[in-house]
Amino acid sequence: MIVLQKKSVNNFIMKFKVFEAFAGIGSQRKALETLSELIENFDFEIVATSEWDCFANISYNAMKNKKDKSKKSLEEKIDYLSNFIHSLDSKESIDIQKIVKKGDRFVSLLYESYVSNNNLGNITKITGRNLIGIAENIDVITYSFPCQDLSSASSLHHPSQGMTKGSGSRSSLLWEVERILIELNALDIKPKFLILENVTNILSPEHIENYKKWLEELKKINYCTQTYILSSEDFGIPQKRKRVIALSVYEGSKINFIDTFKEREKSNLELREKIISEAKALKEEYDRLTYFPKKDLNKILKTNYKNSKYNHEAIDSIPRRTSSRIKMYENNPLLFSECKTERDIYKHKNKKSQFKENCAILSATLTTKQDRHPNAGIISVLDKNGRPNISLKNINWIYKMHYRFL
Ligand SMILES: C[S@@+](CC[C@H](N)C(=O)[O-])C[C@H]1O[C@@H](n2cnc3c(N)ncnc32)[C@H](O)[C@@H]1O
Repeated sequence: MIVLQKKSVNNFIMKFKVFEAFAGIGSQRKALETLSELIENFDFEIVATSEWDCFANISYNAMKNKKDKSKKSLEEKIDYLSNFIHSLDSKESIDIQKIVKKGDRFVSLLYESYVSNNNLGNITKITGRNLIGIAENIDVITYSFPCQDLSSASSLHHPSQGMTKGSGSRSSLLWEVERILIELNALDIKPKFLILENVTNILSPEHIENYKKWLEELKKINYCTQTYILSSEDFGIPQKRKRVIALSVYEGSKINFIDTFKEREKSNLELREKIISEAKALKEEYDRLTYFPKKDLNKILKTNYKNSKYNHEAIDSIPRRTSSRIKMYENNPLLFSECKTERDIYKHKNKKSQFKENCAILSATLTTKQDRHPNAGIISVLDKNGRPNISLKNINWIYKMHYRFL
């Protein structure tokens, strides 16, 4: 049930209880956090998570700045962790001893990540009952299930089972969500909203039948689902990354939230157009309803070098001038430059983007302090006059490139 909490005398906020399945490092939580900052009467609480990858779990918790304040002994922590199936690569399960071998600090961090995020671990072991124990009710389930068997890259290397039910593929873990929903339903718990996130290939001819099957199953348990293709570049991020987002609403038809995929099937092309047009409508609605700040690119890319932390980070990510680095520089898209005379900056302006004032093209993949990725993109450290930025101190520019990474 969505709890209405008093924010001030005449102001109520809606607090959604969320189960974040396949939580990874918590991008769903992050998105909800952003929404709660933007929308005055929206709030949420992650009542449970499911994630089996140890590194993802520790990172998830680190980003929340939750410190290990537990008074439990190491043995108690190991005991607790032994109740779960863990993985160190999100492919295979590992024995608890492998975690123990990683040292006391690792055990403590992992333990804290489980406890402070109500992590129920491997999704295959979670039952509807486990979830009632944690929250009286759940309003939202987010499920960003594994995409390895769906992405176009995977099918090049080996024939894939995609997300076929019962195939045992990683992407078929989707159907664990169905099982949990059915179990919750039997306990009279009907989460109001479900949010899927995955790669756009989910709608390709290879996988669309499975996707439609998923929608049919959702329909059987009374969810109406609308499917959108959204791209991060439209939401304040200097990166092109399209993703499918599907929102399911329990008894949606009662509030006119009608399935995108109608009974009488349309051709894939029509379907795609419909999805895109709905996504556009959603985007317009989003712009109208939310107060999404037109983020300043300087802030996103941290180019305010007067800030000593950003200055330090920038200096740290300026590579040495070597012939291989020069070559990499040539191949990388330029994300940002203050210098108007810089090479191709005005040649490739992305007309659609809010970043058009400062960047040539958007990055396909953002990486951190890495110059080996062909899509990462570079940031010029030249000032408006084409000289090395004077805020960046103590650098011998003869040996350094005139750009940095993120
Ligand atoms: C597409 S990623 C989701 C990423 C996530 N949205 C994030 O912000 O990082 C899928 C996630 O499912 C996790 N996963 C894979 N198998 C799982 C299982 N059996 N139980 C729980 N989580 C699993 C993976 O470790 C991975 O983090």
